[in-house]
Amino acid sequence: MNELSKSNPVVFAAGLGKTYEAKGKKVVALDGISLEVNAGEFVSVCGPSGCGKSTLLLILGLLLKQDEGSLKLSGTDVSDLSQSSKSSFRAEHIGFVFQDFHLIPYLSVMDNILVPSLAKPVENAADRARMLLSEMGIENRCDHLPSALSAGERQRTALVRALLLQPELILADEPTGNLDRENSTIVLDHLAGYTDRGGAVIMATHDNEAMERTGTRIVLDEGRQISSK
Ligand SMILES: Nc1ncnc2c1ncn2[C@@H]1O[C@H](COP(=O)(O)OP(=O)(O)OP(=O)(O)O)[C@@H](O)[C@H]1O
Ligand SMILES: [Mg+2]
Repeated sequence: MNELSKSNPVVFAAGLGKTYEAKGKKVVALDGISLEVNAGEFVSVCGPSGCGKSTLLLILGLLLKQDEGSLKLSGTDVSDLSQSSKSSFRAEHIGFVFQDFHLIPYLSVMDNILVPSLAKPVENAADRARMLLSEMGIENRCDHLPSALSAGERQRTALVRALLLQPELILADEPTGNLDRENSTIVLDHLAGYTDRGGAVIMATHDNEAMERTGTRIVLDEGRQISSK
């Protein structure tokens, strides 16, 4: 986590809006969402299915462009960066846990986890990966392909991949969605511990236990922010 995160909010978003168009129909997925997230904050984004949680995380992770509003990450105005600058920025600053994992099917668990270290080489990446896998209780799955894992094991693999480079910001989309209570608690402990060490975590969730672990809850309904506390 670099020095910038100490002087600027990790996320500063104002008036984010996104409308999808599919088969001639418009769906307003986000409308006027503003948020500020600082280093060390654990934030949940909650609300019913379809309210815009994943859309918000994808925009904050520079994987989707908003139609309206501005976005600064760690003090950088990221809205108008080129695609390649966005990719570099993401590799440097953001870890993403996707709702559907996005593991590479022909790479082992270990190789999937090491993918981010190709974009940003770090020392002892493999040792760190093994330590995180062991903390998640899946060290004996290192050599397996994702297709040989349970959904919960895939989810934990995706989380280890996001944690590997110790980014300033972790965006986690339903990270406990496929886990039993015991494993959810392990994942939530990891995310909370990450914020204790100065990282910022924004997590989309339906899970009450997960929401209760966060200091700030942003509640969405049909793309609008109905409360933030
Ligand atoms: N690529 C797309 N094209 C058209 N509409 C989309 C697209 N992606 C999402 N939507 C719509 O945008 C709205 C918000 O979707 P989003 O996936 O952000 O919701 P969500 O809160 O993450 O839902 P869930 O809890 O089910 O994951 C939904 O109405 C969805 O149908
Ligand atoms: Mg979603």
